[in-house]
Amino acid sequence: MFRESLFALFLLSAFSSSLLPLTTAQDYVLDTDGHAVENHGTYYLLPAKSGSGGGGIEVAATGKESCALTVVQSLNEDSMGLPLKLSSPSITTSHFTEYTSLSIEFTSAPAPCSSASEWTVVKGLPEGRAVKLNDYGNTVEGDFAFVCAKREFYRCNKSYQLIFCPYGLMRCEDVGISIDDDGNRRLVISDGNPFLFKLQKVGSSSSA
Ligand SMILES: *[C@@H]1O[C@H](CO)[C@@H](O)[C@H](O)[C@H]1NC(C)=O
Repeated sequence: MFRESLFALFLLSAFSSSLLPLTTAQDYVLDTDGHAVENHGTYYLLPAKSGSGGGGIEVAATGKESCALTVVQSLNEDSMGLPLKLSSPSITTSHFTEYTSLSIEFTSAPAPCSSASEWTVVKGLPEGRAVKLNDYGNTVEGDFAFVCAKREFYRCNKSYQLIFCPYGLMRCEDVGISIDDDGNRRLVISDGNPFLFKLQKVGSSSSA
């Protein structure tokens, strides 16, 4: 009896402390099941809203590229895209919070001619700064992170914007989607115009 009520008290206090607005910046990033996203876990990045014109995230050869080096949103709304590993080397915990610096990589190097699978931001492109694979060159040093799009009763509504934080700058920038002349939906730095994602654990069937 006593143990049970202590446990209930513990649950209550754990729950209410997570409701404090002051602690919201420390909130874990949540997947579509409502579980905290695992550091070094594998997830699909899907559009927060269906019917937005595309599916999950994959790679494509855009512009003059002879290899698939550009990170894009699939043109197929039903596609989950490719699994992505989300890792923060700087934390020792098994889960990460909003604003935690992350590297993002495809779990397998996309065939046929890229050996790289990690995302970088490349500058000096005609289309501005865009998300590419890391053997592209001319990269902007920095990290990615997720930030909740909106809180409902202090809990994230499970839609996240992806931000890119260049080293040495005091601010981060939004990652958005830009459609090129060939119809590719490229991930680009698009400050003030973030694309909203949800994170679905690979192997989970929940997409809600
Ligand atoms: C979460 O809130 C954002 C901002 O209002 C909205 O665009 C998005 O669709 C919401 N996500 C869900 C799953 O309701």
